[in-house]
Amino acid sequence: MIGYRFMGKAHSNAWRQVGHFFDLPVDLRLRTVCGRSAEVEDAAKKLGWERAVKDWREVVEDPEIDVVDICTPNDSHCEIALAAMAAGKAVVCEKPLALDAAQARKMADAAQTAGVPNLLCHNYRGIPAVALAKQMVEEGLLGETIYHFRARYAQDWLADPQFPFVWRLDAAVAGSGANGDINAHIIDLMRHLVGGVEEVSATERTFVKTRAKVGGGEAEVTVDDAVAWIGKLAGGGLANGEATRFAHGRKNQISWEINGSHGSLFFDFEDMNRLHFYDAGDPANRRGFRDILVTEREHPYGNAWWPPGHITGYEHTFANLFSEFVSVLAGGRGSFPTFEDGWENQKVLDAIRRSAQTRSWEKV
Ligand SMILES: NC(=O)c1ccc[n+]([C@@H]2O[C@H](COP(=O)([O-])OP(=O)(O)OC[C@H]3O[C@@H](n4cnc5c(N)ncnc54)[C@H](O)[C@@H]3O)[C@@H](O)[C@H]2O)c1
Repeated sequence: MIGYRFMGKAHSNAWRQVGHFFDLPVDLRLRTVCGRSAEVEDAAKKLGWERAVKDWREVVEDPEIDVVDICTPNDSHCEIALAAMAAGKAVVCEKPLALDAAQARKMADAAQTAGVPNLLCHNYRGIPAVALAKQMVEEGLLGETIYHFRARYAQDWLADPQFPFVWRLDAAVAGSGANGDINAHIIDLMRHLVGGVEEVSATERTFVKTRAKVGGGEAEVTVDDAVAWIGKLAGGGLANGEATRFAHGRKNQISWEINGSHGSLFFDFEDMNRLHFYDAGDPANRRGFRDILVTEREHPYGNAWWPPGHITGYEHTFANLFSEFVSVLAGGRGSFPTFEDGWENQKVLDAIRRSAQTRSWEKV
């Protein structure tokens, strides 16, 4: 695994949980963790890795390693993934897959050429309630026509203007701001649940233009702080989304709603074990949103974890997703976002950015 901070911790935990909780015929070993500083030795001990290295090429070249998991900032995803796939490794990569659609296409092409399993870590697909929503949409419970998909991803860590400059605020490293970082999850969920958009109209804002650097001095913020968009769903419906890191009180709130010709679904990550379903076919005097606690054995991933009602959390979303990937590595079936999805998502993100610049509708 390359990168050992926030996402590195989440991924280390998830790989271990896949080994412990899922009944898969694979012997998972956490072989090597890679980071750039001496701290990586400590990280290896704490996170349970056998070895620590400082150069990602050592991971890619190690014949003992079958899967390379990339948890580094966005500008290094492409180079590391291309090298890993050329070496025949299966690859897991954090989102956003790339800095732009052209780079994402290169990665998806390389995955195809190498013929290796590849997973793009849109972990919110691994939420049991989201997986149940996917089943319900596919079963037609919302009706034949989807009218609306609307979503919001709101955080507040940048609302304080004193918050220092970090790599996520540098376009050269991050690609974009709220758009690629968190709107990417909305776009992936939309495509997963109701399909893609053909055209978008968007606007972006950078509220705080410069920030203090940790070592002294100031740096210009070169990405969006917030983005809002509307889009035309390929299926004929309307979509709209909003992503911001300036919503005081909202730490990591993702909510979405789908309205179809026969009913609606609503989900809020702050109450992530529940899915809300409205069936317009219910008798008129009993219509209302049902509140489904998605922890039954019959629910997606319900067999892997605790007895019904014993809820799961953020960390389990990664393990659920990785279990699908490991199942495929073991020769079985699994469903997860791939580098192709990364390219499809990135085309939408790029169109949103273009539209914010041109102030016109942009085709995806
Ligand atoms: N799936 C999610 O919801 C989610 C959440 C947070 C972050 N992410 C993604 O995960 C990635 C990492 O984000 P983070 O918040 O963990 O970042 P971070 O800055 O906390 O950690 C990045 C890690 O990468 C290491 N690193 C950087 N360049 C390296 C290199 N060349 N070689 C080896 N190690 C290197 C750093 O030492 C550090 O350990 C980003 O792409 C981000 O978008 C995804």
